[in-house]
Amino acid sequence: MIAFVLNGERREIDVPADKPLLWVLREDLAVLGPKFGCGVAACGACTVHVDGKPVRSCSFRAAAAAGKQVVTVEGLGEGRLHAVQRAWIEQQVPQCGYCQPGFIMAAAALLKDKPRPTDAEIDDALTNICRCGTYSAIRRAVHRAAAILGGAS
Ligand code: FES
Ligand code: FES
Repeated sequence: MIAFVLNGERREIDVPADKPLLWVLREDLAVLGPKFGCGVAACGACTVHVDGKPVRSCSFRAAAAAGKQVVTVEGLGEGRLHAVQRAWIEQQVPQCGYCQPGFIMAAAALLKDKPRPTDAEIDDALTNICRCGTYSAIRRAVHRAAAILGGAS
């Protein structure tokens, strides 16, 4: 039995300890924001936060989440839109959208560490892959989210 807090709610689940967290979320808990892209920690589509840090959940054993806080894109705003989600909508970032939950989670984690990141810092932190090529819109949206978090309306 593995127990953790998912998006603010305590969950207990009986799964093999080495099952990747991504599949526990998607298959066992029906949380579909985190996406499967590569399965080898390369694309970032599966990014979630564990105790506030971004992790690639396809390559993170569910057992390692025991006793921790897991947050997916569904819980990021705690019932309202997070500044990053707001900025993403304002800047019309998504194209197909498949990679976007991972980018949003990576961006939210970056802004906690670096409230005003430069383009270079965004590129260094957001190593996720977008097949649609939304990278410049993502940079724009991260700057906008930084401004919102800094008090801009
Ligand atoms: S699916 Fe996890 S990094 Fe690509
Ligand atoms: S928006 Fe389509 S893969 Fe990124």
